[in-house]
Parts: sequence; C-alpha cells; structure tokens
Amino acid sequence: MNEMTKISRAQRPYSPAAAKFIARKPQLFINNEWVDSSHGATIEVEDPSSGKIIGQVVDASDRDVDRAVAAARAAFDDGRWSGLAPMARERIMHRLADLLEANADEFAEIEAIDNGKPKGMAAAVDIPGAISQLRFMAGWASKVAGETTAPYTMPAGTVFSYTLKEPVGVCAQIVPWNFPLLMAALKISPALAAGCTLVLKPAEQTSLTALRLADLIVEAGFPAGVFNVITGNGHTAGDRMVKHPDVDKVAFTGSTEIGKLINKNATDTLKHVTLELGGKSPVVVMPDVDVASTAPGVAGAIFFNAGQVCVAGSRLYAHRSVFDQVLEGMAATAPFWAPRPSLDPEAHMGAIISKEQHDKVMGYIAAGKRDGASVAMGGDAPSSEGGYYVNPTILVDVNPQMSVVREEIFGPVVVAQRFDDLDEVAKSANDTAYGLGAGIWTKNVATMHKLASKIKAGTVWGNCHAVIDTALPFGGYKQSGIGHEQGRLGIEAYLETKTVIIQL
Ligand code: NAI
Ligand code: MG
Repeated sequence: MNEMTKISRAQRPYSPAAAKFIARKPQLFINNEWVDSSHGATIEVEDPSSGKIIGQVVDASDRDVDRAVAAARAAFDDGRWSGLAPMARERIMHRLADLLEANADEFAEIEAIDNGKPKGMAAAVDIPGAISQLRFMAGWASKVAGETTAPYTMPAGTVFSYTLKEPVGVCAQIVPWNFPLLMAALKISPALAAGCTLVLKPAEQTSLTALRLADLIVEAGFPAGVFNVITGNGHTAGDRMVKHPDVDKVAFTGSTEIGKLINKNATDTLKHVTLELGGKSPVVVMPDVDVASTAPGVAGAIFFNAGQVCVAGSRLYAHRSVFDQVLEGMAATAPFWAPRPSLDPEAHMGAIISKEQHDKVMGYIAAGKRDGASVAMGGDAPSSEGGYYVNPTILVDVNPQMSVVREEIFGPVVVAQRFDDLDEVAKSANDTAYGLGAGIWTKNVATMHKLASKIKAGTVWGNCHAVIDTALPFGGYKQSGIGHEQGRLGIEAYLETKTVIIQL
C-alpha cells in the first residue's frame, strides 16, 4: 500500500469565509438573537484533520438552557408559529432551504473542517441531504389533516366527531457529530412543519453548521423563539434539556447508551421521546452476485464517512463460494478510501472525529487481534502530522463472541465471516442487540425477499447500502431506537391527535 504512505496529511488552508465564521465570538442563538452565555465557559473547536484547536463555542449553562426553553415555550404558547397559515410555514421552510442551497459550498467546507469528513462528501451528501429534509417536510405543513366520521343520531341529538392534528409543543433536539447538519435537519424539519418550536443542541464536537444555520433563520422569516440553538456538553446542557419541565418532546440521535439514559430521564415528566440509536448492521453477499460490482459496494457500506455511520455495514457475511473474491475486491478499493485531510480534493475518507474515538477504534482492532482475529486489510493508523486517521480495515477469523463482532465500533472496520445457507445467515444477521439496517446483495429476487423478511432491522437495502429516501420512514428495531424520522411517520412523531365528539 505504497500510495497510502505517500499521501500528505497536512490540512489545506481554509477559505476566508470559513475562517471568518470559525473565528466568531462564542454565542448562543435564542429568540432570533445572538446572545452571550450566562457564564464564560467554552468548548474548544478542533479540526480532526490536523488535531489543531481552531475556535471556541459556548458550553451552555443551565441558565442558558432555561433561557432558550423559555423562548421556545413563549413562541409556542402564543401561536406565533403554529397559528400561521400552513402554507406560510411551508414558504418560510422553503426559504431556509433556498438559503442553505445558496450557501452550500461554505456549509460543506465548515462541516468538513469541523467533522473531518471530505468536503466533497459533505457537498454531495450532507448539505443536499439537509436541504431535501427541509423541502420534503415543508410540504407536510399544508398536508397534515385529521379525520371526520359521518354524523349519527343518539336519543339526545346528533353526534358529530372529528380529529385534530396538533403540534406536540416545545422540542428538545439533541444530535450527534457524524452528520451534524443533516442530523439537525432531520430533527428540525418535521418539528417546524408540524408547528412545534425547538431548542437544538448539536454535538460538542461539531457545533459549527448548526450555528451557521441560525444565521439564516431570521432572513428566512421565522418568528423569534421558534428555532433556538444551544451549544454545550451532553451531561450538562443536554441533560437539562431532557429533564426540563417546559419541554414536551425529546428527539435524540446518538449512542444506545445515552439513548437509554435519555429515555429514563424523560420519564419523570413523561415527555414524548424519539430515539435513533446505534447499529451493527449485517451485509449479506449471496453466491450469485457479480463480485466486480458488489465488492466496491460492500466496501462503501463500511468505509463511507470512515464507518461513522449508524447504519454502517460493519458485519459482512459472504457466501463461502465468493468470500475470497469479495475480500480481494474490497482490498482493491483501499487506495480510493485512503484517509486524507478533509479539504484535500482527492479525499474520499477523512479523519475520525476525535482522539477519543480514534483511540476507541484502534482499541477495538487491538481487542480483535487479542481475541484471535486476523487483519486482512489495514488494521493500523497511517502516518500524519496530527489528525486522527485510521486505515480502512477488514478483520477475518472472527467469531460471534468477539467484541469486534458484537459492539458498534463506529470506525472504518468491518468483520468478515463466511456462511453456507440462507437460514444460517439469517440467524447470524439477527444475532445482535441492534436492528437498524441490513444489506443484501443478490440477483435472485426470491432470495432477496425471503431474507428481507427474516432480518430484524428498520431498513433493508438490496444491492445498495445506506441509500436514504426522505419520503420513507427511517427507524430502528430492538435497541436501535424508538419511533421514526422521515416520511409520513416522521411528521406524525411531532403531532398530537385530539378527538372531538360533539352532540349537536
Ligand atoms: P453520545 O451519544 O454521547 O452523544 C450524542 C449527543 O448526545 C451529543 O449531542 C451529546 O452532547 C449528547 N448527550 C450526551 N450525553 C447526554 C445526556 N446525558 N443527556 C442529553 N444529551 C446527551 O455519543 P458520543 O459519546 O459522541 O459517541 C460515543 C459512541 O456513540 C460512538 O463511539 C458511537 O458508537 C455512538 N454514536 C452513534 C451515533 C449514531 O448515529 N447512531 C452517533 C454518534 C455516536
Ligand atoms: Mg458520550
């Protein structure tokens, strides 16, 4: 792998626009204004491609959170947003999408700098994905509707009934660092379309694009207090949001561990909770596939976004008859996925988000080796001047008891196993606490449908992976989550249903 050692991993210079934004004074966005925190605490902003500290964001205090929730509460309670004509809400959301589109290049650069992902990937996936979420959900504002039943006669009079769909209220929305703006858009779009108000907390590692989005809120025409951004740590600011008595709903994407904690903490006030959590998604390759086209797809299923994807295809099951060829085909993609700095135009895979995550990923690889796994590809960190890079890695000679097979690694590491028949692989695929995604690669339609029905996962992909359609629901089985985002179910998650029964 000579190509890999020759790559310069020095981060490239930032554009003046991005540099200016990153150098801004740390502030919070509350009531359509940039405000100082009640205390001086900040969190360092790091560029994972270089490991350098490049700026600061506010580490919000309890008082800051309370202030943001109060703004969202007031904006919800007086109906300044939910009371607008649905088409007016829809237009404002479309305007936000348009503004995002007009600034897409800057957003892609900031996301790349903050997260470590290639700017080209952010420009192709994250930013257009966020725009799609806004546009798709904007349309629901005017399409949400209740039901009526035919009036009927009782001894005391005629009974007329209907249902009303009403916004849930004030939403606390907590997102992770792997797709910062896209995850934020997944949360805010249905909430805004439904008429809710919200407080958004990006992950402490990646707050920049949520703050940049706040710049566009006033221009788009949102009334004050509808959209608020708090930056800060999970166990402090996030925790305050989850337990706040004036919050009606919590929506969270992140680790299963914190999802369970949030579910517990939201219980005292019995908030509505939506959880999008971790995964250990299986990818099954049947013997009939065209290996030449399948192997790169299977590699992309794990190496895209450096494996920091909730639906990453991190457990590969290839039929014994094609196993060696599939692995050879995947190994051939190593130069394509060689990690590079986020602003290198050649980059397809970037850095891992942080030293902590880098060490965690390397720790899993070491544990796998200790348990008896062999490295078929990668398994190490490439040379770099700072920055948190891991080479794309394939582990073989693994068994279902190993931590590398059972636990979410959240890095560019796949464990590859052989199988012989359909029932066996269905059982192996389901041998996990998670149930988020699954991939099936076959040309045989019957096999595809049989296996799709057997695998317990919220989304099953056939001959592709991690393709997201805004119009379709996304959610997890088992310990991968509660509820759905996107599609009709996505908007339902932000609506209450009121039944009205009137005796005329
Ligand atoms: P995390 O689940 O701790 O953080 C996600 C978000 O939750 C962040 O905004 C954080 O500030 C917030 N948070 C943390 N503790 C909280 C609390 N007590 N109350 C309210 N909010 C809280 O994830 P972390 O620590 O960044 O990563 C750890 C592991 O989680 C990763 O190695 C990966 O396995 C998994 N993960 C999964 C993601 C997914 O999309 N399924 C995304 C990010 C991480
Ligand atoms: Mg954490």
